[in-house]
Amino acid sequence: MSTTTPEYAVEFAGKVALVTGAASGIGLAIAHRLAAGGAAVVLADFNEAGAREAADALSADGTRAAAVAVDVTDPDSVEAAVRFTVETFGALHLAVNNAGIAGPSDPTGAYDVAAWDRVIATDLSGVFYSMRHELPAILAAGGGAVVNMSSILGTNGFAGQAAYVAAKHGVIGLTKTAAVEYAEHGVRINAVGPGFIETPLLRDSDEEQHSLLVSLHPQGRLGTAEEVAELTAFLLSDRASFVQGSYHLVDGGYSAR
Ligand SMILES: NC(=O)c1ccc[n+]([C@@H]2O[C@H](COP(=O)([O-])OP(=O)(O)OC[C@H]3O[C@@H](n4cnc5c(N)ncnc54)[C@H](O)[C@@H]3O)[C@@H](O)[C@H]2O)c1
Repeated sequence: MSTTTPEYAVEFAGKVALVTGAASGIGLAIAHRLAAGGAAVVLADFNEAGAREAADALSADGTRAAAVAVDVTDPDSVEAAVRFTVETFGALHLAVNNAGIAGPSDPTGAYDVAAWDRVIATDLSGVFYSMRHELPAILAAGGGAVVNMSSILGTNGFAGQAAYVAAKHGVIGLTKTAAVEYAEHGVRINAVGPGFIETPLLRDSDEEQHSLLVSLHPQGRLGTAEEVAELTAFLLSDRASFVQGSYHLVDGGYSAR
């Protein structure tokens, strides 16, 4: 009788991962998926209590997990979270820059300027600050992989979402540039573009808006955080060894229309 260990249970053994926005939704599912693959995981979030609760639950299951408070709009805070990761688990190999916010829904000519600044600071500058401090640590560890969370709105417009759409387009450009810079140093950097996913990020949409979002996906449903985590895990794994600087959809057919 075969007692082979599933490949996914060992693919991240010996690796240390940092996931931002890991207290909730997609980031939480990614933290679970990397832990299932054998990684030590640092869950970093603005919501420190949520990150701590999630890390405690993972630790109780035998994962090497820890939580750290981070505000990705503050470069010093991000630097401290990377330092915490290296001090706690000895290195950094895998990073998922996932923390993000949606912002209000208003036409560009009426979009609140302070809201614009907040969304760009979190969803675009936050990804830059994260890579700015993660990449030297990943180089010091001898290489690794990064996934930046973009969106289907990283390549399409969406009425009412000027700041979010601009930030998510920017994440793809940032991803490609860093990927070109770091390929020869053994760091693979890619972006993921989820369709609309059932997470607390959609908490402000009412039933009518929810049905409209569902209708935009040919599969006739929204995605799950676990489905995004699966693609992210693939991109971080050695199975994606020739995947560099590209953008990968997980969108139930949204972008194929
Ligand atoms: N849910 C969707 O439909 C969807 C679709 C495409 C892309 N995304 C992207 O996926 C990522 C995760 O979204 P989600 O749906 O899981 O949302 P979520 O609201 O469930 O989780 C986001 C997490 O990010 C944290 N966060 C917010 N601002 C932060 C900051 N400044 N510093 C640190 N942490 C911060 C929050 O505390 C929260 O835990 C985001 O980048 C989002 O834009 C989501």
